[in-house]
Amino acid sequence: MTSGTESVVSLEHARKSFGDTPVLRDISLSVAPGEVVAVIGPSGGGKSTLLRCLTLLERLDDGSLSYGGLNVASGGSYGEKNVLAQARQRFGLVFQNYNLFPHFSVLRNVMDAPVVVQGRPRDEAEAEARALLAKMGLAGSEDKVPCQLSGGQQQRASIARALALHPKIVYFDEPTSALDPELTAEVLRVIKGLAAERMTMVIVTHEMGFAREVADRVVFMDGGVIVEEGPAEQVMEHPREERTRAFLRQREA
Ligand SMILES: Nc1ncnc2c1ncn2[C@@H]1O[C@H](COP(=O)(O)OP(=O)(O)O)[C@@H](O)[C@H]1O
Ligand SMILES: [Mg+2]
Repeated sequence: MTSGTESVVSLEHARKSFGDTPVLRDISLSVAPGEVVAVIGPSGGGKSTLLRCLTLLERLDDGSLSYGGLNVASGGSYGEKNVLAQARQRFGLVFQNYNLFPHFSVLRNVMDAPVVVQGRPRDEAEAEARALLAKMGLAGSEDKVPCQLSGGQQQRASIARALALHPKIVYFDEPTSALDPELTAEVLRVIKGLAAERMTMVIVTHEMGFAREVADRVVFMDGGVIVEEGPAEQVMEHPREERTRAFLRQREA
């Protein structure tokens, strides 16, 4: 496929149904290195399912998925276990609800997978985890357990945890939708910082101002299809499709 070679991730003609309900209907999406893509659209449009397919939490019924040169699925059939394991090393995922291990310290949450999954030396993993936590504004919270942190702090810790695995791309699924406005702002700030460093990211968000500001490209999804996509400014300010216009009007109201 033409778009596959240079892309960090490439999805071609993806289809996914739950029972008789098609949720992804021929979705193609490729992300270039350093690109920040915001995915917007109404609830139930398939955004989370798209991320779950990209992160191998759900399987496509049809279509192809590759990470760089690594062919994960084609025509809906998936590669061997070791291919999937390699693919899982390429991405990080940050959910709405943080998903930190409640009984681990913040530090251990961040350094555990690099040590256990990637076999990195403990000292090195710890030093990096501390640096990432500091970068996320969490210096001094290393020895706390997640419930001692605010929601915004927990979300920033989960971003540090994702970054600790050195992903080529980080996916965010509505990272601030469980947070009040003040905590939302601190999380959006750290994501903006990552965008400024050219971290490759796909961010499902209902924060329209944030999408406009941080994304290179905006994808509007509704009813399991990409209705419209393009440069953030064009999609957000001069949408071509009436469905996009209606959605954006409603978000402003
Ligand atoms: N595991 C599942 N089983 C059955 N239906 C599902 C499942 N996950 C999502 N759906 C359905 O798929 C559609 C898209 O959901 P989702 O991807 O969560 O949309 P969004 O994230 O855009 O709100 C919805 O109609 C939802 O009910
Ligand atoms: Mg969702």
